[in-house]
Amino acid sequence: MTRIIIPDKNDPHPWSVFVAESAIHRDPLVISDVVRILPHGGEVSGTVYTNPDTDEDWLATGEGFVPLTTVTRVHPGNIHSATIPIGTEIIDRWWGLPIGYIPDDLVDIPAGWCINDGKEYRLRQVALPALLDMLEAAASEGVEIRVLSSWRPGDYQRNLYMGAIERMGRNQRASAPPGHSEHQLGTVVDLCDVEEKEVLTAAFSDTPQGRWLAEHAGEFGFFRSYTDENTARTGYISEPWHWRFWGR
Ligand code: DAL
Ligand code: ZN
Repeated sequence: MTRIIIPDKNDPHPWSVFVAESAIHRDPLVISDVVRILPHGGEVSGTVYTNPDTDEDWLATGEGFVPLTTVTRVHPGNIHSATIPIGTEIIDRWWGLPIGYIPDDLVDIPAGWCINDGKEYRLRQVALPALLDMLEAAASEGVEIRVLSSWRPGDYQRNLYMGAIERMGRNQRASAPPGHSEHQLGTVVDLCDVEEKEVLTAAFSDTPQGRWLAEHAGEFGFFRSYTDENTARTGYISEPWHWRFWGR
């Protein structure tokens, strides 16, 4: 299996403001004095700092602190004129894709395998047969699994992310910023049980579907990105429903 090497999150490569405007604060608190306003697209470098009192991430620059919730950073290896080869993408909370990046080989997932919510379900062409083989293998053993999210464009992720911050606060660890979601790669699915009882819950891992995936998904090239063990490194909560295709 191909594994990416997580780059140093304190690399000086600049972050850029993706919201209308951001600010450099004197202290890592949104209520502190503003040193300087940063415009949309403005660039800023620094080291990632988590305020232990609020659990909010900040970029510590020489001048002050920028909320990490307002900036994204593109990894130079993710800048491709065409689609990024599967397994070589570098994407996490610290490194992302251009927000406008769209794989050019997306295909539809047959609706019967997806929850019926009117959304479009798409994946990269190479990942689809692996997904279908996996879902069919599970079904043949009496375990019906459904897809509840797949490819997500960067601007859609932006809305999800802003909504998550509004609901859960700037220290939420559930939703990735735009450009930083593995869903934008087109190789990731969120899965659920056919009755949609455990949708995006920790308890999904204790359903027949969650248990079947834990045992067999790797045989089809799918691996869990966010586990109980790696939350400190990834910056996200454990997600037993989120499976990324790395190639068979
Ligand atoms: N929930 C995962 C981290 C995402 O938003 O991509
Ligand atoms: Zn997901």
